[in-house]
Amino acid sequence: MTNVIPGGVGRVSPCRLVDLPEHSDPRGKLTVVQPGKGIDFEIRRAYYIHHIPQGAERGAHGHRRLRQVIVAVHGSFDVVVDDGFTQDKVTLDNPSRGLYVGPMVWRDMIDFAPGTVGLWLVSEPYDETEYYRDYETFLRDAKAMTGDLR
Ligand code: TYD
Repeated sequence: MTNVIPGGVGRVSPCRLVDLPEHSDPRGKLTVVQPGKGIDFEIRRAYYIHHIPQGAERGAHGHRRLRQVIVAVHGSFDVVVDDGFTQDKVTLDNPSRGLYVGPMVWRDMIDFAPGTVGLWLVSEPYDETEYYRDYETFLRDAKAMTGDLR
């Protein structure tokens, strides 16, 4: 994997790192999540993962339409993104820097540090029919897309 975000992964809407506004003072840091400030979609759902056992891997799916920003609120983990043509691996370890992942990107979350809490800010309500859970099906559809889709 030689690409570096911002890079070429995501033919519908490329993956990119997103800086969230951070307010720092002697009392600590405060990070703001607000559409229009680093997030260019309406947030219709949020969820977070926690109590992740050592060695666990999550994800292993893609989405047909859904957009999301992923933030390591505490700890760190790697996100491997794959649009069927190109792959990249991004380490998330900063609560004020998220990873935008658009439609038609397969993702795996790996290498969770102990105590990690990961936050997902998502453009759609939960809909299992909108998922790709089978990589071969995802690959077939991703490769069938032609032209510059960005
Ligand atoms: P899953 O998609 O496997 O999580 P991850 O992408 O982190 O690997 O989801 C785990 C379970 O949670 C699965 O039974 C579906 C359920 N779930 C919901 O009910 N609502 C949600 O918004 C999400 C993201 C998952």
